[in-house]
Amino acid sequence: MDADALIQKLGKLNPKLVAVIEKYLNKLPGVKKEIDKQTDEVMKGLEGSVRPYSNDFPTYKRLPDEGINRDNILSDMESMAALEKNRWKEGYVSGTVYHGNEEHISFLNKVYAANSQANPLHSDLFPSTSKYEAEIISMTAGMLGADNTEDEICGSVSSGGTESILLAMKTYRDRARVEKGIKRPEMVVPVTAHAAFNKAAQYFNIKLKQVPIGKDYKVDIKAVKRAITSNTIVIVGSAPTFPHGVVDHIEALSEIALKKNIGLHVDACLGGFILPWVKQLGYNVPEFDFSLKGVTSMSADTHKYGYAAKGTSVVLYRSLELRRYQYFTITDWPGGLYFSPTFAGSRAGALSAACWASLVSLGEKGYVDAAKGIMKTADVIKKGIDAIPELDILGEPLWNISFGSKDLDIYRIMDYMTEKQWSLNGLHKPSCVHICCTLRHAQEGVAEKFVADLKDAVEHVKSTPAKEGGMAPVYGMAATLPLRGTISQLLKKYMDVLYKV
Ligand SMILES: Cc1ncc(COP(=O)(O)O)c(C=O)c1O
Repeated sequence: MDADALIQKLGKLNPKLVAVIEKYLNKLPGVKKEIDKQTDEVMKGLEGSVRPYSNDFPTYKRLPDEGINRDNILSDMESMAALEKNRWKEGYVSGTVYHGNEEHISFLNKVYAANSQANPLHSDLFPSTSKYEAEIISMTAGMLGADNTEDEICGSVSSGGTESILLAMKTYRDRARVEKGIKRPEMVVPVTAHAAFNKAAQYFNIKLKQVPIGKDYKVDIKAVKRAITSNTIVIVGSAPTFPHGVVDHIEALSEIALKKNIGLHVDACLGGFILPWVKQLGYNVPEFDFSLKGVTSMSADTHKYGYAAKGTSVVLYRSLELRRYQYFTITDWPGGLYFSPTFAGSRAGALSAACWASLVSLGEKGYVDAAKGIMKTADVIKKGIDAIPELDILGEPLWNISFGSKDLDIYRIMDYMTEKQWSLNGLHKPSCVHICCTLRHAQEGVAEKFVADLKDAVEHVKSTPAKEGGMAPVYGMAATLPLRGTISQLLKKYMDVLYKV
């Protein structure tokens, strides 16, 4: 049997069984050696694109003997940043840079510079940072239903969406251990929830029970009910989901959480700072925040639609008691009494300062106007895709739009778009591509250009046979290859390449 036939046969088996077979296959020295050889070759081919600057800028494998002139350093760094700027600046990139206006960035940079030495670990020395963080949390809670409940919504500032989610999951694990004696905790998570939940399950030894989505790309509520056991510590919904941009059935999840007396985390990393305003603008946004009694925690990223610099997010809880399970304290350490609310010890107070400055400089009006521009752009893009018969939008997204094709290889369409400068996200299960609209896309003419290029891409793929190269075969393989362990190894080797000098 040749390798392709074997892979096809494996693809028909239960994925858990394939994982076991793969583990044994990898123990055969010949197989492991061959896989290593082939994956190393793939990685070698990637090194050039990962390290495009090796020839034009100095490389420091060790500390230079003497310090380099600051002007030279700045000049090199500014040159590299300039090379990377055009694509996101002009609106070719999905998500990633959510505001990007020159004036806004230089304002945040000034705030950062004024606070660059601040460290919230030393709250006695930097009370301004504590003030900024407390107010960021309070303003975020206010946007997300705190005024519609008697409960005291509270939270923490973290370094990003992933940390907010990790913190919340650790919090539920620790609460369940203390209050319910749960030693084998389980979390019930839709397959479309962000990978940070899988990470939390791995890091904190929580059993991950993944539940499917329905035809509307939202979590299947019946499957959630079936997945809950006496060990369930939390159920999860997204507002909206990263892959398809739809808001899960949070109200139904809230009812389940209340009935079963378990936590409900709403991941509004993507939506927290825009959904309230999209709702206010009259779009069809279901309830998703603390106004729903069963919602016990939320994550909302200030470094996405909060338009702060990269490196901040907010995790919110329905009560001070719940938040306390997140905190870390040690009272008998020779280094003295020690406490920290989040995973890091020392943190960049300047990031919190810049985040606070972003919130108060934009104000509600700034955020509503931004949401208006983004939704208008998303509407143009959605209409444009709808008018292309070969493409289908998945579900009913708001501004984070994914589309696939029944007849054409959607990854070839993405390849064509990449040639035209676009940086889109290739997704799988099902195969589709998405564009997450930001203020960069709300610039004049960007949405129209996107739609025109997409039309060309479809015509190109229809009229031209697939050629060698491009990412389409890689995405195709990643979506379908049953040997997930091998793909995981490939990703790990890729990370090794990123760290190579
Ligand atoms: C819905 C959702 N949750 C969580 C995250 C993770 O955020 P971060 O990349 O800031 O860790 C993202 C990132 O795109 C997201 O879209």
